[in-house]
Amino acid sequence: MMISDTLQEQQTVQISAHNLLMKFNQNTLFNVPELTFKQGDVIYLQGDNGSGKSTLMKILAGLITPTQGQVISQGFAPKPWWQPDNLFGKAVYLHQHPYLFEGTVKYNLTYALSQLKIPVSERNDRITQAVNMAQLGDLLNHNASDLSGGERQRLAIARAWIIQPKLLMLDEPISNMDKQSQRLVLAMINQLKQDGTGLLLSSHQTCGLTALCQQHWHIKQRTIHTSMHVPAAETVHQTNTTELHYGTTD
Ligand SMILES: Nc1ncnc2c1ncn2[C@@H]1O[C@H](COP(=O)(O)OP(=O)(O)OP(=O)(O)O)[C@@H](O)[C@H]1O
Ligand SMILES: [Mg+2]
Repeated sequence: MMISDTLQEQQTVQISAHNLLMKFNQNTLFNVPELTFKQGDVIYLQGDNGSGKSTLMKILAGLITPTQGQVISQGFAPKPWWQPDNLFGKAVYLHQHPYLFEGTVKYNLTYALSQLKIPVSERNDRITQAVNMAQLGDLLNHNASDLSGGERQRLAIARAWIIQPKLLMLDEPISNMDKQSQRLVLAMINQLKQDGTGLLLSSHQTCGLTALCQQHWHIKQRTIHTSMHVPAAETVHQTNTTELHYGTTD
């Protein structure tokens, strides 16, 4: 391995935005001088419907370009000279209605890994762990298009977890889910947190997610307020974090 690669891998990966302005049709959605999202961060992104949560995540994932400002990535392994070194794919964005591949649950879980050069034993370990974590064991041979909303979300997070991204953005990961599905998804998110994955988690209202977060980004009045204080959940859904540890034994 080259020394420069080693240095890159030791650096914390991060995406930062400077003087960001986003407008649609002359209407300002938000305007923010500085934002930094890095490995180890667990950030709760709050904002009313239509305030721009999904748009911000897509900007940080390199899927859309802001009207003004720079979005810069640091600490990621350098791309070969023939590939453009853009933001795309550095932070994984999981859509609020996740797209699944046509085919079985197993195919969805294994496809991305088949593209990576990793030993078969490690590949199998990751698949087994993802299946257990998402409790998808009974559904492996089911067609992904037949899954319920909660099962789809679990599969989408497990599929993202399998490729072990350094930064992961989950858009409304527990909205429209019953308590049991919420608990499972929160356990998966907690596992990602334990793994040191940087997480940006959106929801229009405080919820079970907030108990896991260490920072708060709030989109309101066309700007983004950042704070190290995370508001408590408004609802009775106060998550007991000891329930959230996946696969740990006392
Ligand atoms: N490509 C686009 N062209 C024009 N307007 C857009 C486009 N994408 C988003 N918008 C508008 O920008 C605003 C913010 O949308 P966004 O999806 O980011 O909000 P959100 O905070 O994620 O909302 P929700 O809580 O409903 O998911 C909305 O008013 C939306 O209609
Ligand atoms: Mg949205």
